[in-house]
Amino acid sequence: MSTLSLDGEIAVVTGGAGGIGAAAAAAYAAAGARVAVADLDLRAADAVVQRLGSEHRAYELDVRSWESVEALAAAVRDELGPATVLFNGAGIQRVVPTLQMAREDWDLVIDVNLSGSFRCCRVFGAGMVERGHGAIVNVASLTGVEFGGGGRVAYGASKSGIAGLTRTLGVEWAASGVRVNAIAPGIVSTPLIERLATEGSLDLADLASRVPAQRVGSPADVASLALLLSCPEGSYLVGQTIVLDGGLSSAGPRQTGRQVSPEQARSGQAGRGQARSRQAGPEQTRSGQAGPGQVRAESKGAAR
Ligand SMILES: NC(=O)c1ccc[n+]([C@@H]2O[C@H](COP(=O)([O-])OP(=O)(O)OC[C@H]3O[C@@H](n4cnc5c(N)ncnc54)[C@H](O)[C@@H]3O)[C@@H](O)[C@H]2O)c1
Repeated sequence: MSTLSLDGEIAVVTGGAGGIGAAAAAAYAAAGARVAVADLDLRAADAVVQRLGSEHRAYELDVRSWESVEALAAAVRDELGPATVLFNGAGIQRVVPTLQMAREDWDLVIDVNLSGSFRCCRVFGAGMVERGHGAIVNVASLTGVEFGGGGRVAYGASKSGIAGLTRTLGVEWAASGVRVNAIAPGIVSTPLIERLATEGSLDLADLASRVPAQRVGSPADVASLALLLSCPEGSYLVGQTIVLDGGLSSAGPRQTGRQVSPEQARSGQAGRGQARSRQAGPEQTRSGQAGPGQVRAESKGAAR
């Protein structure tokens, strides 16, 4: 059982019906918070609440709309109490080479991922600042924060933007007792990622083998860090975007989890001649590897 406690806190989780959001909602509920599970997909949010228990609530939310976010804040305040924790998990991904991407796709990804997170920070943050108490956890990504990623121009830009948003709000609101941080996950096994794997644009087994921890992340890994960032035990973390990737970004583009096997690591012998020439961005797609994003990834690798 977790020793981190959110007793008496009211946690709002956007994208709460998704892989990572549902795990954050479960972690917050297990730590004692009452949780508002908010998502575009109300039925799926309801299903999450069924699993969590009747003291929690499901809400329909579209983070693209200020009115929807404001309506959520009002409903949560009336039914559960003023929100004291916000986990911004709503997000989408479009993997299309830039020159083939519809202009609307750029607008949509930025609107949901970046502006949507800002709307929720702004609306819920206002109440938190007024009451002098709160914690906000945004969700960035290794893509955009540490790597480029072919075919992900809007996604990467939205996630870089989240790191900037988090830094600024963290600084602006810390003295008011409201902490803002972000998590930049690597590859997390969720419906979003499994969809990409099924479509053939992502090879999960190959990716897992290149993670130093030798596995892709789980939604529970993200939820554990979200809980720390939301609890008093994490109170000295301000404006940070914390990379959570099993060591993928620490290894660098030309290093892989396979380069030194566990046996070699134990015996102190490094594997020679096993370095892969292919660059390893997280969530890298086959289309991205052949495209301009790959060239950029290689330049970055060479500079490291
Ligand atoms: N899965 C990964 O490997 C990974 C890695 C890095 C970052 N992330 C980020 O984590 C977050 C959650 O991803 P996930 O893997 O759980 O995806 P997911 O698709 O399982 O969940 C995303 C949720 O957001 C909801 N949503 C989408 N548009 C919305 C809108 N306009 N308003 C409200 N809700 C909306 C969806 O209905 C869904 O339930 C996203 O921001 C994603 O970019 C995921």
